[in-house]
Amino acid sequence: MASKEYRLIQEETGPDEIFTHYHDNIPSLSKKRRLVTYILCITLALSLAANALLTLHSLRRPYDIPPNKTAFAGLERNTPIAWTDDSAFASHNRSTWDQAWASLNPDTGYVAISDAFALRTGLHESQRWPWDASKGLYLLQGYHSLHCLTILRASLVEMHDQKPQSLHFRHINHCLDGLRQEIVCNADDTPRYSGLDQEEGTGRGQVRMCRDWGKLEEWAERHSACYEYEPGVESLEGGIPLDRFKHCPDGSEPWMGGVGGG
Ligand SMILES: *[C@@H]1O[C@H](CO)[C@@H](O)[C@H](O)[C@H]1NC(C)=O
Ligand SMILES: *[C@@H]1O[C@H](CO)[C@@H](O)[C@H](O)[C@H]1NC(C)=O
Repeated sequence: MASKEYRLIQEETGPDEIFTHYHDNIPSLSKKRRLVTYILCITLALSLAANALLTLHSLRRPYDIPPNKTAFAGLERNTPIAWTDDSAFASHNRSTWDQAWASLNPDTGYVAISDAFALRTGLHESQRWPWDASKGLYLLQGYHSLHCLTILRASLVEMHDQKPQSLHFRHINHCLDGLRQEIVCNADDTPRYSGLDQEEGTGRGQVRMCRDWGKLEEWAERHSACYEYEPGVESLEGGIPLDRFKHCPDGSEPWMGGVGGG
């Protein structure tokens, strides 16, 4: 299932092939051996050089994206949003609160990305998207974080409602640490004002420049992996059930034989 992009060179002209050839031709050993050693050295040198180039290429940031745009969806910090203490997500009205959180859909973040784009942008190789072997299945970080928030919230709600915990503590801990890593990686240096008219806390109503989540949502839908989690249907031993990838937002049906998914 794994992409061959980063292993082509070893697979095509690897030392194993040459050794097999050598063992098949026992007569005139010493002359052959010298030739084989020579070819082996050249091949190894070429292979190492090519691997080094590929590694450098895959670690480098993409060169064709302006520094103030994100590398993948090309988002800019151009959307002013004020911090608030009274969004629906913090509502004291339970039904408003539940509705707000239920409106988030982390599944949108599963995208199918072409190997060409992945190579150009230095992405790690990924498992194949089931309907097109030239695309890898990825989960966008923002949506992974949202998924983690909804997991943590579900656990808290169960605790608050004095219901048994439905999630493994390990999963909850994974999510807690995932969010910690996200915060540390972003190293957000925005100073939140304090005091003045605030009852308590900091930063209320303070405006900052955000990226446009709607634009990310659009990009995710254009590259949709057509994924939708079905409650009750758990991952099988052989991988994710294929039926989960049959929910394309544009109504297309890439599993019907054609290439699809943007
Ligand atoms: C991003 O950078 C380009 C030039 O590199 C500039 O024209 C544009 O105004 C910048 N956008 C923002 C939101 O800073
Ligand atoms: C909570 O909000 C809903 C609308 O989402 C409203 O119908 C209901 O009356 C509110 N409940 C309370 C206790 O304010």
